[in-house]
Amino acid sequence: MMLRCRVNLSTMIFLVILQGATVVLFCSWYVQLTPCGSAPSNGKVHVVLLSSWRSGSSFLGQAFSQHPSVFYLMEPAWHVWTRLQKPGARSLRMAVRDLLRSVFQCDLSVMEAYLPDNHNVSSLFMWSHSRALCSPPACPLTPRNQLSNQTHCLQRCDAQGLQGAQEACSTYSHVVLKEVRFFELESLYPLLQDPALDVRIVHLVRDPRAVMRSREASAKAFMRDNAILLEQRSVPAAEAQYQVMQEICRSHVRINERALEKPPPFLKGRYKMLRYEDLARNPLEEIRAVFRFVGLEMTVQLGQWIYKVTHGKGKGSKKEAFDITSRNAADVSQAWRTSLPHEKVRRVQRVCQGAMSLLGYRTVSSDQEQKRLDVDLLAPREPYQFSWLPTKTQRPGQD
Ligand SMILES: *[C@@H]1O[C@H](CO)[C@@H](O)[C@H](O)[C@H]1NC(C)=O
Ligand SMILES: *[C@@H]1O[C@H](CO)[C@@H](O)[C@H](O)[C@H]1NC(C)=O
Repeated sequence: MMLRCRVNLSTMIFLVILQGATVVLFCSWYVQLTPCGSAPSNGKVHVVLLSSWRSGSSFLGQAFSQHPSVFYLMEPAWHVWTRLQKPGARSLRMAVRDLLRSVFQCDLSVMEAYLPDNHNVSSLFMWSHSRALCSPPACPLTPRNQLSNQTHCLQRCDAQGLQGAQEACSTYSHVVLKEVRFFELESLYPLLQDPALDVRIVHLVRDPRAVMRSREASAKAFMRDNAILLEQRSVPAAEAQYQVMQEICRSHVRINERALEKPPPFLKGRYKMLRYEDLARNPLEEIRAVFRFVGLEMTVQLGQWIYKVTHGKGKGSKKEAFDITSRNAADVSQAWRTSLPHEKVRRVQRVCQGAMSLLGYRTVSSDQEQKRLDVDLLAPREPYQFSWLPTKTQRPGQD
């Protein structure tokens, strides 16, 4: 009797300790998703697709936008940058951050500060690129599980005010906002620490030489943004493009290092870097990994769409890979090597040296080397592929 009792007692103690350990383990595992004990975001995930101009973010954005679980908006910050007079990027970043926070919480009233009187859904920047704005409840046109056609949406889904859009937003598990107007992570810290939000940052970068070539092709379109980025300093036009590239490259380093080298606890596991070139070479696999990182599953229909838009014909000298028309994405990502003069390549390499070595873009030292397309300039990204979340955010049945 005594013995049995003692055995039971020590078994009990053992079980209690085991249970305690399990709770601690589970908690430390879970803390990577949402801090234990904090108010939940109701399972809603908030994704910042952080990129820079001409880096393939429209394409990756579309992959999100077409997903049936995603409410997607392009560039809410565009409204901030275009509405205010002669500002600088530094003074705008908090306004942009607060705008993002409200939109993540599906409060679109914040947009009113930047929109005209009597605004409509069509007042939102590139609104018809958002599948959610073309689907119920925002618009009856496209069933939520089908791919949206921008042309049709543009004709049929405008509506007065933003109530419909706001209502739609709250029915999705994921809100994804694409931004090319963030140049550091610190201003996003309050969002990362907000228990009502579950923020993931997907950082999309691209070879600065390719970005340079692409920006040159439509230089005029960038004048206003350039001025803001250069804090309205007066810089000769020929010089401005290199200074802008330098700012962009510096921001890549700043953001990447901040997120991966001794990140604050709330940033751990919430950042994933992605190179345009890897996306171009392996679109399906890379997008699958990004989806996994934010807790979305790839659908058959999306998989087919991704294949189609990345395996078209033609190098597309005028347009870009991923301009959502079909072309061979991997070819297009190399186009700068034959079309950007070597002198310019050397200058970009100089101003972007740090970023290129950090992100794995090999420099070329001669015109010959530049034009030899069999020389691969993409270094593998092993050391920085590090990420905390991926597999653990997977839900059952997810791919
Ligand atoms: C919004 O739509 C209404 C009605 O169609 C129209 O009168 C108004 O001009 C539109 N607003 C803007 C800012 O285009
Ligand atoms: C969208 O619809 C238009 C007109 O019906 C069509 O020409 C176009 O190819 C469609 N776009 C896509 C991407 O399916």
